[in-house]
Amino acid sequence: MRETDNDWNIIAEHNPFFGVLANAEYLGKDLPPEKKARFYESGRVDIAFTLDVARRHFGVVPRFGRALDFGCGVGRLTKAMAEHADAVTGVDISEHMIEVARRNVSGEHVEFRPALPEGPFNWINSHMVFQHIPPGRGIGILRDLLDLAAPGCFVTIQLPFYRDRSFFQQTMEKIDAVAFDGSRIDVIARSQHSEGTMLMFDYPWPQVYAAFVDRGFTNIHMIHTNHGGVHGAWMFSTRD
Ligand SMILES: C[S@@+](CC[C@H](N)C(=O)[O-])C[C@H]1O[C@@H](n2cnc3c(N)ncnc32)[C@H](O)[C@@H]1O
Repeated sequence: MRETDNDWNIIAEHNPFFGVLANAEYLGKDLPPEKKARFYESGRVDIAFTLDVARRHFGVVPRFGRALDFGCGVGRLTKAMAEHADAVTGVDISEHMIEVARRNVSGEHVEFRPALPEGPFNWINSHMVFQHIPPGRGIGILRDLLDLAAPGCFVTIQLPFYRDRSFFQQTMEKIDAVAFDGSRIDVIARSQHSEGTMLMFDYPWPQVYAAFVDRGFTNIHMIHTNHGGVHGAWMFSTRD
């Protein structure tokens, strides 16, 4: 299984903002004020969308007590979440991402950490994160994350499930030989991506669903996401 944590430290050291939103205008170690404002404004738009969906499907969304932003990067969503919660914790595996987040997102009720804190939380959010963690490890992290939920906790977690033709070229880049039996492709030889490559992975739906249901998230609403040919879903739920 690919060890992806170091990839993220390398990405974050050189291009922390671009590592979060792969748009050429966000390349570089830091951004001029107007670009940075645009970058963080995109987080407000994403969170506004999230809360709007929640309101439509689960009724009134209260101001939250404790909120958790897993894979927070430079705090793009954490900053926006702080407007809707009494306390927000952003967690990220990359120390460089956390450094940049701390420089740009402040407030007494906002903190950034390299590992999951103690629960319980009333809102757990994670966007564009699990797609970068191999599912062999990510499913366990998803379970740990959902274990931190208080009763009634609201979750907004985005997960990837399959890729289409537009992502095949990137998928095949380091694959040297496959076996095809008419319905299934098995990779039988591959070379390694260099360190600092941003890789994408797909998740097995039954394991994801079981992680939610086992922890009392039975009322689930899903909205399709497409990140450059990697298809997934925003999963919205509240704990029974
Ligand atoms: C594409 S960025 C998304 C950042 C943020 N969620 C947003 O939407 O602005 C992915 C982030 O996930 C973080 N990440 C990757 N693997 C992680 C892990 N195992 N635990 C915590 N964070 C991780 C990366 O360091 C990176 O900051």
